[in-house]
Amino acid sequence: MSPSSKQKFKNPRANYNFQGRTCAISGVGSYVPERILTNGDLEKMVDTTDEWITTRTGIKERRIAAKDEFTSDIATKAALSAMAKAGVTGEQIDLIIVATITPDMPFPSTACLVQHKIGARRAAAFDLEAACSGFIYALEIAQQFIMSRTYDTVLVIGAEKLSSIVDWEDRNTCVLFGDGAGAAVLQNRPDSHGLLTAVMGADGEKADLLFMPGGGSRCPATADSVTARQHYLRMEGKETFKNAVQAMLTAAKEALKRCEIDITRIKCVIPHQANRRIIDAVAERLGAKPEQIFVNLHKYGNTSAASVAIALDEAVQSGNIQRGDLILLVVFGAGLTWGAAVIEW
Ligand code: ACO
Repeated sequence: MSPSSKQKFKNPRANYNFQGRTCAISGVGSYVPERILTNGDLEKMVDTTDEWITTRTGIKERRIAAKDEFTSDIATKAALSAMAKAGVTGEQIDLIIVATITPDMPFPSTACLVQHKIGARRAAAFDLEAACSGFIYALEIAQQFIMSRTYDTVLVIGAEKLSSIVDWEDRNTCVLFGDGAGAAVLQNRPDSHGLLTAVMGADGEKADLLFMPGGGSRCPATADSVTARQHYLRMEGKETFKNAVQAMLTAAKEALKRCEIDITRIKCVIPHQANRRIIDAVAERLGAKPEQIFVNLHKYGNTSAASVAIALDEAVQSGNIQRGDLILLVVFGAGLTWGAAVIEW
């Protein structure tokens, strides 16, 4: 047991009659596609430079899924890895939630496709759309089902094939995004640790800062909509940046407050991996030390709903997180949406 697990903090769940229930994270896993697209590769595709991308974002490369590799495939690989570490089979899973903005198709849900691929025949399955905040939204929903005794084992996945909705002619956005997936198995495990609290927020008034105009009921696919490049994501970078810093800060502070702890109690802060400058601004305002912040965006860019899920898996694999350590996840995305979660590992 690490020293931090002996120290006091408040468990916000203790306010409710959840005696005997925990929302343990019994396994995490991730997967990124093999193909690497470097900043040098992008220099040959659009008017950009490695220097611009590195200094403005911190990203050096990103992963791109194969033509015949879809979000459900990426999600399944991450899920199987998390399930192996948790020691659960498909048959044991009660519910699958896939957070994604790039489902294989509008319907059926990617979660149903994953359910079939992993043989989780008993499981209910649905997709959740909260853009980059999706994984934390999904953790919170999973926790509600577990703590209410509805389910014992929930598989939460953040998975994206963003390369399918990126406009590869738009240098403002195409340098930022990549593909990948992360997954976590959440279980009621007596006397175990786990998710302590998750904050979720949204502001639909700012929906037009980051969106994809085409493909929905407002702008169904037509020859004209394709010609007008409506089926790619669009972003107001500067405004998104400002909102990201403020929203992540507010969410993180609220999550810490609920647990009655300050940032010094957190072993590892895992922020949404969108831009190194956003991460640094949030870390500075939170009063976090550089060694507390986990960063892997130089390898993957922004993988939206998969971002903190992949980072959580890599942070655990790195050996820096020990049982009993407190972890802070903090995210921000289209919607606008934001969230933060405190996990006792
Ligand atoms: N290469 C070279 N120049 C570029 C590139 C590029 N790839 N992209 C933009 N530029 C140019 C612009 O055209 C602009 O040129 P101009 O001054 O001649 O008009 C100049 O660089 C500066 O552009 P800015 O927008 O001021 O650059 P900024 O410093 O704001 O960085 C960035 C842009 C990286 C997009 C930043 O604003 C950002 O990270 N925003 C937040 C994105 C984000 O966090 N999204 C999260 C949610 S994602 C989700 O939910 C799916």
